[in-house]
Amino acid sequence: MLSQTPPKLFDRQDWLAGYRSLKQEYSYWVSDITGAIPPELQGTLFRNGPGLLDVNGEKYGHPFDGDGMICRISFQDSKAHFANSFVKTPEYLAEQKAGKILYRGVFGTQKAGGVLGNLFDMRRKNIANTNVTYHGGKLFAMWEADRPYALDPYTLQTLGIESFQDKLTPGSVFSAHPRLDPATNDLWGFGVEPSFRSKISIYKLSTTGDLQIVHQVKVPGFCFLHDFAWTPDYCIFIQNPIQFNPFPFIFGLQTAGACLELKPNAPSQFLLLDRQGNLQTIDTEPCFVFHHGNAYRSGDELILDAVTYADYPKLEANSDFREVDFSKVIPGHLTRFCLNLSTKAVRKTTLLDRSCEFPRLNPNHTGRPHRYLYLAMIDPATPPDTNAPLQAIVKVDTHTAQHQIHNFAPRGFVSEPVFVPRPNGELEDDGWVLLLTFNAARNASDVVILNGTDLTTQAILHLPHHVPYGLHGNFVPHVFVNK
Ligand code: CO
Repeated sequence: MLSQTPPKLFDRQDWLAGYRSLKQEYSYWVSDITGAIPPELQGTLFRNGPGLLDVNGEKYGHPFDGDGMICRISFQDSKAHFANSFVKTPEYLAEQKAGKILYRGVFGTQKAGGVLGNLFDMRRKNIANTNVTYHGGKLFAMWEADRPYALDPYTLQTLGIESFQDKLTPGSVFSAHPRLDPATNDLWGFGVEPSFRSKISIYKLSTTGDLQIVHQVKVPGFCFLHDFAWTPDYCIFIQNPIQFNPFPFIFGLQTAGACLELKPNAPSQFLLLDRQGNLQTIDTEPCFVFHHGNAYRSGDELILDAVTYADYPKLEANSDFREVDFSKVIPGHLTRFCLNLSTKAVRKTTLLDRSCEFPRLNPNHTGRPHRYLYLAMIDPATPPDTNAPLQAIVKVDTHTAQHQIHNFAPRGFVSEPVFVPRPNGELEDDGWVLLLTFNAARNASDVVILNGTDLTTQAILHLPHHVPYGLHGNFVPHVFVNK
């Protein structure tokens, strides 16, 4: 009998090497390129994510607490320019000057000094580290729980907190997951101010940068809404049955993120907010969702694709993410919900049952019927009883539930795939998938361009340094290079 060597899985030290701070800010033309950058690929990929994982060697407890760092990759005439810059918030500047952590993080970082050092310290740091997009003449670095920071897209200089002509007052929230309406180019966003009755605001940002507060509604219970889906008729949220016990946070025992837990036996609820401001709710079985892929109307039904978790991936208090036991990490699965608007019946099917995250699609299909989704997923060779870091890109055909994979394992680690349609392309998957990977074999990062149809490699841009694992980003068809 032939003996088969089991496939080599990732090495933990390789994975951890992508979680080092990148302290230097660069600006250069990329010289080391394998393959060819397509000449029709003209524009700029912006990425955001935590750039610092420590202050002067004092480590953040969770990577989501790291200061936002914008990476900008500009494509022009088959050449590429790379630049990165920290979002220079006053808190970032103060911590750099002090050389130590001054603020408690939402997710996993307590200040030094134990319980007494954190007691009643409710100051938050707007880390502006979750998403970035260019709209209405400005570049916005966005975070979950505050207003965005505006930056100059050419110099990446931080301009300051964006209030949109004082329409967003201090305390208001413009979250990190807006959606662009491909028909009008309006950017739709939302903000949640969680409380015992949470306030949800819906915003529309025009192409000229005018912000309109479209609706504000209050819903019962504590809302932790990270993302939404948008159609021409509805804004769609999934209210996870989360409860927040604030006392360990107030008394300095735990970070806010560790005080969230799933309510036992409570349903999840779809919140459908229509363009007239009416709120309709539909219950479904309990699940937890960070990210939506897309939603669209089909007859009496709303179709919604999202990555779902069977339980809230709770942050263990005072634990170190570097020592995570992957067999205990809850997998995310790509799930299709068909919501019948008349009967409120919900049909649920699994489109991908390997652990995956960061669903993206051809942006021309936002809110319209789509066939394909692109996601980051684990190495498909990972045994079914455990989880793993994201190492592959998968293209899911929602019509057939078939999928194609480009695997970067065992030494490559991936980020969110951003689909860029080919100019004047007619087919939904005619374009490119752009992503940053951490290539442990080089101990540096690559910008990878895959073909959207079959995920074959079009080009790899070898950066001379690493970029810490990031969160979200967007491509815009304007070319920004330092003036
Ligand atoms: Co997100």
